[in-house]
Amino acid sequence: MTSGPLTRIPPNGRTAPDTAAESRPPVVPKRRRTGHNGPIAPPASTGRGAPPSPEVPSVPLPRVVAFSASINRPSRTRTLVEAIAAELGRHRRIDLTVIDLIDAGPGLGALTRDDLSEAAEALVAAIEGADALIVGTPVYKGAYSGLFKHVFDFVGAEALVGLPVALAATGGGLRHALVVEHSLRPLFGFFSAHIAPTSVYAGGDEIADGVVADATVAARIEAAGRELDALLAVSRGADRAKAPAA
Ligand SMILES: Cc1cc2nc3c(=O)[nH]c(=O)nc-3n(C[C@H](O)[C@H](O)[C@H](O)COP(=O)(O)O)c2cc1C
Repeated sequence: MTSGPLTRIPPNGRTAPDTAAESRPPVVPKRRRTGHNGPIAPPASTGRGAPPSPEVPSVPLPRVVAFSASINRPSRTRTLVEAIAAELGRHRRIDLTVIDLIDAGPGLGALTRDDLSEAAEALVAAIEGADALIVGTPVYKGAYSGLFKHVFDFVGAEALVGLPVALAATGGGLRHALVVEHSLRPLFGFFSAHIAPTSVYAGGDEIADGVVADATVAARIEAAGRELDALLAVSRGADRAKAPAA
C-alpha cells in the first residue's frame, strides 16, 4: 500500500469532551486525506503525555483499514472512523490506512469489478486485504448510502470471514441511529465478519468541527476500540496482532 499525505493520528489521542477529569487533545487532525497512516501505537505505560515512540516496529503490525463512505470533505463520518482507529491505537500498535470513498472518484460507478478504475479497485482490494476494518457510512434515506453498499458488493464473499469489524454511521439527527444495527450489522453478518458488539452512531451536533462533542458517543467509541482490540487478538490476523506494545 502506498504512503499518502495523511497526518498521523496521535497515538495518545482521545475524543472530546472526555468523561474523565483529565483533559486531552482532540483525536482528529484538522487536515487529512485518504492514505496510509503507518504505524500507530499505544501510549507509553510510563504516563500520560509521553511522546510517540519513533522506533520502527520490526514485526508486522495488524493492517487496519478505516473506511469512510462519505462524499464530503470534511466529513463527519471520517471523524468517527478515525476516532475509533485512534482508540484502537491506544490498545495496540497497528498499521493504519484511512480511506475516503470520495477519493475513489467516479470510477467507482462501474457495473463490474473489472471495470473499476485503479483508485476504486485499490479501495476494494485494501478492504479485502485488511486484518481489521472500521467502516463508517453517512445515513442516506434511512440506511447506509448506496455507494457504501456498492463498494461492499465488489468485496469477495469470503474475504471478510472472521475479520474484526467496527461499525459506525453518522446522520443529520438521531432518528436513524439504529441504522448501524439494522443496516450495517446484517451486511457484515452476511460476510461472517466478527463484529464489535458496540457500534457507533453520531447525529446532529454530536460531531462539531471535526471533533466528537458528545460524551455518550465518545464512550461508545472507546468501547468499540476496546472490543476491536479484543477481536483482533483472536482473529485470523492474530500473528500480526501479537506485536508487543511499544
Ligand atoms: C441524500 C441524503 C440523504 C440523507 N438522509 C438522511 C437520513 O435519512 N437520516 C439522517 O439522519 N440524515 C440523513 N442525511 C444527512 C447525512 O447523513 C449527514 O449529514 C451525515 O452526517 C453526512 O456525513 P458526512 O459528513 O460524513 O458526509 C442525508 C444526507 C443526504 C445528502
